[in-house]
Amino acid sequence: MLPRPPPHLLPWRYLVLLFLALAVSSNGVSATAKPKAKAPTPAGFGYKLVSLVQRPNGGGLVGLLQVKRRTSTYGPDIPRLRLFVKHETKDRVRVQITDAEKQRWEVPYDLLPREPSPPLGAATGGAPFTAGEYPGQDLVFTYGRDPFWFAVHRLSTRQPLFNTSRAPLVFKDQYLEVSTRLPGDAALYGLGESTQPGGIKLRPNDPYTLYTTDASAINLNTDLYGSHPVYVDLRNLAGRGVAHAVLLLNSNGMDVFYTGTSLTYKVIGGLLDFYFFAGPTPLAVVDQYTAMIGRPAPMPYWAFGFHQCRWGYHNLSVVEDVVENYWSAQIPLDVIWTDDDHMDARKDFTLSPVNYPRPKLLAFLDKIHARGMKYIVLIDPGINVNDTYGVYQRGMDRDIFIKLDGQPYLAQVWPGPVYFPDFINPDGASWWIDEVRRFHELVPVDGLWIDMNEASNFCTGKCTIPTTHRCPDPTSKEPWLCCLDCKNLTNTRWDEPPYKINASGKSARLGYNTIATSAVHYNGVLEYNAHSLYGFSQAIATHKGLQSIQGKRPFILTRSTFVGSGAYAAHWTGDNKGTWEDLRYSISTMLNFGIFGMPMVGSDICGFYPASPPPLEELCSRWIELGAFYPFSRDHANFASPRQELYQWQSVATSARNALGMRYRLLPYLYTLNYQAHLTGAPVARPLFFSFPDFAPCYGVSNQFLLGAGVMVSPVLQQGASSVDAVFPPGTWYNLFDTTKAVVSTGSGASAVFRLPAPLNEVNVHVHQGTVLPLQRGGTISRDARATPFTLVVAFPLGAEDADAEGAVYVDDDERPAMVLAEGQATYARFHAAVRGGREVTVRSDVAMGSYSMSKGLVIEKITVLGLHGAGKDLAIQVDGADDATAVATSSPYFAAADAAQALRQGEEEDGVEGGRRGVTMEVGGLALPLGKSFTMTWSMHIEA
Ligand SMILES: *[C@@H]1O[C@H](CO)[C@@H](O)[C@H](O)[C@H]1NC(C)=O
Ligand SMILES: *[C@@H]1O[C@H](CO)[C@@H](O)[C@H](O)[C@H]1NC(C)=O
Ligand SMILES: *[C@@H]1O[C@H](CO)[C@@H](O)[C@H](O)[C@H]1NC(C)=O
Ligand SMILES: *[C@@H]1O[C@H](CO)[C@@H](O)[C@H](O)[C@H]1NC(C)=O
Ligand SMILES: *[C@@H]1O[C@H](CO)[C@@H](O)[C@H](O)[C@H]1NC(C)=O
Repeated sequence: MLPRPPPHLLPWRYLVLLFLALAVSSNGVSATAKPKAKAPTPAGFGYKLVSLVQRPNGGGLVGLLQVKRRTSTYGPDIPRLRLFVKHETKDRVRVQITDAEKQRWEVPYDLLPREPSPPLGAATGGAPFTAGEYPGQDLVFTYGRDPFWFAVHRLSTRQPLFNTSRAPLVFKDQYLEVSTRLPGDAALYGLGESTQPGGIKLRPNDPYTLYTTDASAINLNTDLYGSHPVYVDLRNLAGRGVAHAVLLLNSNGMDVFYTGTSLTYKVIGGLLDFYFFAGPTPLAVVDQYTAMIGRPAPMPYWAFGFHQCRWGYHNLSVVEDVVENYWSAQIPLDVIWTDDDHMDARKDFTLSPVNYPRPKLLAFLDKIHARGMKYIVLIDPGINVNDTYGVYQRGMDRDIFIKLDGQPYLAQVWPGPVYFPDFINPDGASWWIDEVRRFHELVPVDGLWIDMNEASNFCTGKCTIPTTHRCPDPTSKEPWLCCLDCKNLTNTRWDEPPYKINASGKSARLGYNTIATSAVHYNGVLEYNAHSLYGFSQAIATHKGLQSIQGKRPFILTRSTFVGSGAYAAHWTGDNKGTWEDLRYSISTMLNFGIFGMPMVGSDICGFYPASPPPLEELCSRWIELGAFYPFSRDHANFASPRQELYQWQSVATSARNALGMRYRLLPYLYTLNYQAHLTGAPVARPLFFSFPDFAPCYGVSNQFLLGAGVMVSPVLQQGASSVDAVFPPGTWYNLFDTTKAVVSTGSGASAVFRLPAPLNEVNVHVHQGTVLPLQRGGTISRDARATPFTLVVAFPLGAEDADAEGAVYVDDDERPAMVLAEGQATYARFHAAVRGGREVTVRSDVAMGSYSMSKGLVIEKITVLGLHGAGKDLAIQVDGADDATAVATSSPYFAAADAAQALRQGEEEDGVEGGRRGVTMEVGGLALPLGKSFTMTWSMHIEA
């Protein structure tokens, strides 16, 4: 079944030797000669455009490219290429280049549904296209004929966005190269997954290799678990931030070289299939991107609660103990997890009869479910090879494992020898869905965690089960070392492609610690091509499985991801370490996944691997202060780590109650962001430039982030620090923990950095002017917290005369799989607040589909208004357009006295107490306004003598 190595490999090898010999001898000479830049041998000489036609009915352009001059570097050139260009929407243009004669591998349309490109060879029809430009609404495609190049520019600004004329296009079977020029001041983001020590903004000359790999997240600038060949390009044009994005939809391994003024892709297969997204705002970019790749999956409400996990909860008693300790420490906890400890000999979908006996586990689940808590377990894709194991037997019966040389491909993971199911095979997916169903009958878990799905393999190459020693050896202290008998695979061009990407950050073989790339999936699909889709295809199958059995909104956490994974699963940033550096890196990776359309993301709080010496207590305080604001907030540790549940230290428990206490008050806001992410792709956690694209000083900010549009988190990331230097974009920002503390920034220059106090147990979280923030009373379990009364925090600029503020809240029945605004199932309330002349204040809500909220009895008890002077009087409330006595009959509205402001202004070193006489926080309390009814509330402010 395997293709033989093609004859061209031989001459190519000789050429390389020849080239190396020349390089060595010329080096010898150049030691004395004048230094002279040696032009690198090009991998190709480009193509010329020989025809171009416009298909009827807006069907795009189709062109034919002819290679100009052949080379054999990295294999022979594909002589004739088909160009296809289409403005698929008003803000998206696609430029696809592929072999004109032969179908090539591309990301399967059933995994990532999208508009098809025209079939090859079909009579295209249409008229010759002679114009130099092919404009859409704002994006314009232009091209050169000989040599062929293409460019995309923006009509409104005339800015070139992408231009491939700087280097010849190269298109071989296993090597594609294309390069674009970039302005030196463009800020780029994306191209993951990698841990970026330089922060969120791509750093010139850092390596960006994309190939899914189980290299732990502590490896910097390395191809980690996911592959996302997309970047956002943000440029500041005369004070205005303008963004677009570029996706190269391709699942093959690739190196991307970014120099600051150019970006070059070197890809080892597939097509060049570019999508350009016009923006022009960062939010518009992610909207357009997720419209194409799939909107982020809606998450259940409880998933925004706090999660605790550890690899090494040896038995159920330990787990029970953890839950009770959280409970008695009054630290919020919604979800308890087990890694592989509940399993029988680390086999998927099993229970250890000794450590997690089923009757006891079911009794425990009854108990925690009654409290509103949830339970999630891990599963790996590798299925233990064991004739007595039903999951394995059924998989063999259905013949769904990935194969090498006609036999299931043998690997080693935690249970020992395993085979890998093929989730691209429809039978493989339906077998998996059935196994998920069977397991759910055994244990009613609330979600699944799919790990090791890059796929990770402790061995490399072609392996057999040893006859001379036990594998795995149950006494081994290092069960992650390969114990199978293996030999390297070097005989195919899939195992040893002509161009070597920087796999695993060490130019490793493609098959290194994963499935051999010459292995085959269903229908002859090569692992070489489908490798980076493995975790994605597993997430899709797992999602189908959970949704069909539970009839509920699934929660899945996956380690390996690809373009589109966000429509099915959440992500954590993988195996990090308990260090201050890892604490800091977590922010950039989290923000990147927001851009990748996967906003439910977080890092292992307090670190997964133990650091030595462990700086744990202080670090863990700071980590929960940051991690409480990750969209996905979970403490997880390795079996070798010291215990690090948040109640283990008094000081950490205090920090946790404080930070998670605020998170649980913010749950309605986070859940509304979840809804907005699902509708528009807007990330839950966002880089500052998402709300302040014109404010260039925030383009590189990687130590702070926004939740939604107007809440900013500025954590401490340094040992021993008791203050934090934070960037504040223009406007008034109120400390959410103490709203009398305000920061007023004009956003000018370096003075937009403020030094704020940050004692050990406190984290700085601010709300920006113009926001109406919905809060509830909080609690320790989200089910209870979500039933408590609401407070609306209305943030006006400090001392505002005329200002507006807006916000919204979405509530629904999170058991329903779909997140749609429908009568009886969900309610959406929009809030608008205004002050006029510094006196007349209006707070209005505008409710859609109110009945769900009414049936839950949700009410607003308080409105907190920030930034105004004086005290309120003459309160008038209308509900549903009428002076509704019944709606507020149970309450007695009152105004609370205003607290004085402590405003920190630009240029002030110390805490400047600004205008002690002036009010800044005033309250309208004692309300019982139904959230499900539109209301208008007015009052006036008067300044007391
Ligand atoms: C792309 O580069 C070519 C060659 O330098 C140039 O003629 C063309 O104007 C450029 N187009 C855009 C949109 O940048
Ligand atoms: C559970 O494991 C803990 C820690 O390993 C041990 O101390 C305890 O005896 C075990 N309990 C049961 C019921 O096995
Ligand atoms: C197969 O699994 C059973 C049950 O866990 C175990 O007792 C047996 O040793 C396993 N066999 C092999 C060959 O690993
Ligand atoms: C396989 O190749 C790797 C990397 O070249 C090498 O380190 C290893 O020793 C080889 N293994 C065998 C069994 O030949
Ligand atoms: C491969 O990646 C590693 C890790 O970032 C880097 O140190 C190394 O220089 C890269 N190698 C090449 C050839 O780019």
